Amino acid sequence: MGLDGLKIVAFESRKASQMASALARHGGQPVVAPSMREVPDEDPTEALAFAEKLIAGQFDCVILLTGVGTRHLIKSVAAQYPTEQMADALRSVTLVARGPKPVAALREIGLTADVVAPSPNTWREVVSALAQAGDLAGQRIAIQEYGQANQELAEALTQSGATVTSVQTYRWQLPEDIGPLKSAIRQIIDGHIDVAVFTSAQQIRHLFQVARQDALEADLRTAFGRVVIASVGPTCTQAIRSLGLAPDDEPDTPNMGSLIKGLVRHAKKILHRKRLAHTAGVDTTAWRRVDMVWPDEDPAADQEKLHQSAFLKACRREPTDYTPIWLMRQAGRFQRAYRDIRAKVPFVELCKTPDLAAEVTLMAVDQLGVDAAIIFSDILLLVEPMGIGLEFTKGEGPSLANPIREPRDVDRLTSAQAAESMSFVYEAIRLTRRALPPTVPLIGFAGAPFTLASYICEGGGSRDYVYTKSLMYRDAGAWNALMAHLVDNLADYLKAQVAAGAQALQLFDSWVGCLSLADYERFVFDHVKRLIEKVGSDVPIIYFGTNTTTLLEKMRDTGADVIGLDWRVDLGDMWARLGHHVAVQGNLDPVTLFASPAEIRKRAELVLNQAAARPGHIFNLGHGILPGTPVDHVVALVDAVHELSNRSA
Ligand code: CP3
Repeated sequence: MGLDGLKIVAFESRKASQMASALARHGGQPVVAPSMREVPDEDPTEALAFAEKLIAGQFDCVILLTGVGTRHLIKSVAAQYPTEQMADALRSVTLVARGPKPVAALREIGLTADVVAPSPNTWREVVSALAQAGDLAGQRIAIQEYGQANQELAEALTQSGATVTSVQTYRWQLPEDIGPLKSAIRQIIDGHIDVAVFTSAQQIRHLFQVARQDALEADLRTAFGRVVIASVGPTCTQAIRSLGLAPDDEPDTPNMGSLIKGLVRHAKKILHRKRLAHTAGVDTTAWRRVDMVWPDEDPAADQEKLHQSAFLKACRREPTDYTPIWLMRQAGRFQRAYRDIRAKVPFVELCKTPDLAAEVTLMAVDQLGVDAAIIFSDILLLVEPMGIGLEFTKGEGPSLANPIREPRDVDRLTSAQAAESMSFVYEAIRLTRRALPPTVPLIGFAGAPFTLASYICEGGGSRDYVYTKSLMYRDAGAWNALMAHLVDNLADYLKAQVAAGAQALQLFDSWVGCLSLADYERFVFDHVKRLIEKVGSDVPIIYFGTNTTTLLEKMRDTGADVIGLDWRVDLGDMWARLGHHVAVQGNLDPVTLFASPAEIRKRAELVLNQAAARPGHIFNLGHGILPGTPVDHVVALVDAVHELSNRSA
């Protein structure tokens, strides 16, 4: 889509021209208003005191926060302490660099950093990288500061038992000519700006400082209600929030290139959404994504738009202009924003807090540009109201208390209506549906009866399913009672999700592939079939499992509308075997996403070729996105599938 004439104000100083030309190259109209000037500390007292102590061996560790600051620091003491002497002294302490820029500055004087804080290079990464390198207690640490002192960093280190000395190297001041900044403020207030790009925290502080001088602070804040705010990363975002605003876009990787890439991809969409919300009376200044409310002037037309979405058409095997794509686990740990939320909220609490679950659901759709949303939740939450304890332990996955092991345990399953206790899911669906564009369908889901039963019997993940299969083989009656109980609860649960606003449903039978075809037929098939019948045909049902090569025809006979395939099968062959009267979903190997974007594109094309543009293919992975998958690669996949399958005109 490109920037297509959007008027974009950027506050970069040092890289002002780079920024302007990048924006213009993508069709934007840049307005550059430099907002900062780096002023080296005139008074070298702090730097000299640091140098003296460093040479006297009074520091164990020096943290370098910026490249510019590292160079200033060395230069400002050079008259008394020659660079070589400083380099020698620095060599004898633990050198910590906050990312690549101080690393480069150190290299210029022949030094290498002992610890490099990883992206996104906030004080948190500095602290955790240091803590990994060794015990902080008793460490004497100097921090090269710039502009405002990094209080959070100093506090975190002090709390770990370190002694901290700050060394101010340069300060940020307003540029000598604040004309462009004043003009930018005017243009924002007058509604002439579409997007504002912030690449450092100090930029927005300065912008508001100048506005305050002219008593325009409140006007400026209000005007931002109609402007897309883009933030380069977490530190910048924090400054934006502390001024009563919220970023509308922030890249997963905090750098200028990723920021611009993201804007090129979705600035127009975000602007459209924000202005609609503003017009509809939503307070769009300090808003969250979930606060979006689409105007519903014509609910029937919106329903029709949803009905005609590429995803729902493909579920019905109608021709589409392109192959729709969504990805299992499209919200999760591979996203920095998700990890940031999880650092504060445990997983189950996240699932049970509707506005957070909705926010995470929406975030994935916005970031990846997929054709469907899937509600953020988990298949295992339904076991709790059945009287089974559930816990997710870090690194070890789910663990269920008092599993069902003996036939008589089945009677213990509370007969209570589990679906009634899942109102947090329905509320999350309602909030998500309200905030999703009227063109993007929302998928509800549940674990299929076998996969849920396997967790209930094993008490967690399993390799051999000894307890599950033992129950099945020893006492078919007890097994069938367990499955029937699950089906009754699942049917209510899924129907309630549809009533709350889901347009499609997916049944996850992730582990059913551990069964032989004969056992699937004997112990599973009828239950899934009954579940699908009970749920009814209001919305399409996708039935997914892994390792199911031998089971797929039988899985299709359950009456599911779409069959989910894992990556082990050739999608073309399998579809032919299933018959083209059923839709298929899949099936790229999730590990492909660790390869290069060029390789990802090639392999996506192979899957598309297997589907041969037949109506009824929904692109997906063969299983969920894995943690550690680069977000850019996921985006590359979504774009490649859209591009390669484009059949419009
Ligand atoms: O796809 C989506 O984005 C929707 C969310 C979703 C989650 N789990 C979130 C989640 C969905 C559809 C599921 C389904 C699910 N949950 C399945 C079936 C699909 C599959 O992957 O086979 C299963 C077997 C589960 C059970 C489950 N939940 C396990 C085994 C684990 C631990 C392993 C892991 O990946 O961490 C979970 C936790 C879980 N469910 C996470 C997420 C985002 C990770 C939680 C975290 O640490 O933040």
